[in-house]
Amino acid sequence: KYKLFIFDMDGVITETSEQHYQAWKQLANEIGIEIDRKFNEKLKGVSRIESLERILEYANKANDFTEDEKLELATRKNENYKEMILKFTEENLFEGVKDLFDELKKRNIKIAIGSASKNAPTLVRLLGIENDIDYIVNPAEVKRGKPAPDIFLKAAEHLGVDISECIGVEDAEAGIEAIKSAGMFAVGIGDSKVLNKADIVYGETKDIKLEDLM
Ligand code: G6P
Ligand code: MG
Repeated sequence: KYKLFIFDMDGVITETSEQHYQAWKQLANEIGIEIDRKFNEKLKGVSRIESLERILEYANKANDFTEDEKLELATRKNENYKEMILKFTEENLFEGVKDLFDELKKRNIKIAIGSASKNAPTLVRLLGIENDIDYIVNPAEVKRGKPAPDIFLKAAEHLGVDISECIGVEDAEAGIEAIKSAGMFAVGIGDSKVLNKADIVYGETKDIKLEDLM
């Protein structure tokens, strides 16, 4: 039935959510803002510049910076983040991901990465899964980020697969919303209370059972 799986990256195939959080926390601290893990849930799946906007709004500082200053802040966070992921290797791939990819390929199901991250191609290379992936959506090529459906629709369109034959896998609220508004089947990874809009939720990626889904 399904011909394409579109995986989010951060928090689904590798653990970069913590690094994103630490990098934002540090940047926020530098401008006198405290963020915690609960607030961080609202940043998952959200683009770099939009994440910064949300942090500034949260602290009522949205008007304290010019657009140029905001760009500088976002770049500073990214430099810090990039340093944190520099040493990533195949070891950083979540348990079960490689087996899942192999299983999908055996069934002739295509694999795409639908991440809001501009660092996705670098991470895919570091994680050693370049040859498993049929397509990585470039978030710069779509109009709207998650929770809009654009990233997921782009993957389906590029690979020529009908929406009804696509499954999206996400750990973020914004991501599940994006998959659902694309009209696709949504697999959540994480807490079913947080991801209550997903069609099915697994605690971790390794828990995904293709038999449940097909
Ligand atoms: C993913 C992460 C977000 C991150 C976004 C942009 O969606 O979940 O936390 O802000 O990608 O990532 P980037 O690497 O381009 O800053
Ligand atoms: Mg994610």
